[in-house]
Amino acid sequence: MSGKSRRKRSAARAANTARSDQRSDPKPSQYRIRRKIPDPLQERRTEFRRFNSNALHDEQLAIAPVESVSPREAQPFLKWVGGKAQLLAQFDKFFPDEIACYFEPFVGGGAVFFHLKHRFPKMKARLRDINGELINTYRAVRDYPRELMRQLDAHAAEFKVKGDDYFYFIRARHDLTGDEQKIVERAARMIFLNKTCFNGLWRVNASGKFNVPVGSNKKPGLYDEGNIYAASRALQGVHLEVQDFRRTFSETRRGDFIYVDPPYYPVSSTANFTSYTKEDFGEGEQRELHAVFAEAAQRGVRVMLSNSDTPFIRRLYRDFQIGTVQARRMINCDGSKRGAVNEVVVINKI
Ligand SMILES: C[S@@+](CC[C@H](N)C(=O)[O-])C[C@H]1O[C@@H](n2cnc3c(N)ncnc32)[C@H](O)[C@@H]1O
Repeated sequence: MSGKSRRKRSAARAANTARSDQRSDPKPSQYRIRRKIPDPLQERRTEFRRFNSNALHDEQLAIAPVESVSPREAQPFLKWVGGKAQLLAQFDKFFPDEIACYFEPFVGGGAVFFHLKHRFPKMKARLRDINGELINTYRAVRDYPRELMRQLDAHAAEFKVKGDDYFYFIRARHDLTGDEQKIVERAARMIFLNKTCFNGLWRVNASGKFNVPVGSNKKPGLYDEGNIYAASRALQGVHLEVQDFRRTFSETRRGDFIYVDPPYYPVSSTANFTSYTKEDFGEGEQRELHAVFAEAAQRGVRVMLSNSDTPFIRRLYRDFQIGTVQARRMINCDGSKRGAVNEVVVINKI
């Protein structure tokens, strides 16, 4: 190579270096760094795939909107007296750090179950209640969410046109109560009555017939679609049974966790609502509950109970660790007694 061409080459190399220096200038380089741009839909897509692999009805899955499968924490789909949604934050410190197998003998609106299932997604659960219509509604939400919502839409449309007459017409369909063949119809009736009746009470008379009058809200929301799907997802694989609490305790094993929220022991003779079912829940039942609770704790079951803060309950559970939480009480005959009250939380002695 001649001296002339060598000079030419080194001049070209110098020019290149200058350009690459320019490119490494902080400003232009901003455009060259390949940043990983987060995909806002990725989480939903993953969730949707997981949802698809669950054992839900094929027809529902094929057209389930993405919104309906977001990983949200399900909320109770019924209004329930004594519901625990407002107490979850205060309850958190009483729950175990991990739960493999969960029992809830008085499930009611299920606020605690939905909360724990969100926290421990692999948790196996057995939910029980003596109210057959309630357990049937859980089954319908678990297995037929879409069909259930369709029937609720039909109820809403009729109620809009016919008002109170329609409420009383549906309330009188006592023939549906207990009909094993009509899971979705029964569930839609229960949710409709629960959302349109006075104060969202579920109260039955001595022969087990729902007897609450119509409420004042003429445009109640009967359901939230996203929440029904979230609840349905949370309930997949959950064992549901109409059962008395004594039986449920007998199913528990060492290491299981049982959360117990019975009808509250009355703070005064008129104060509390305990008529969820035609059988009352009095002092005798509270004592029997204590007996099976203590027996389960002896066997190594992790136990937790909430109840009213009364001398009777404190005496009954004196051998356990007792904490308190503050609740707003809604059902009280005496308006002046509605407000913040203490409730006790009972757990195994550490
Ligand atoms: C205080 S509520 C439970 C509220 C629930 N923790 C919630 O968050 O909505 C009491 C529940 O106990 C049920 N119950 C009453 N007597 C029962 C019994 N002997 N065995 C099982 N459940 C019973 C009622 O049907 C009612 O749903």
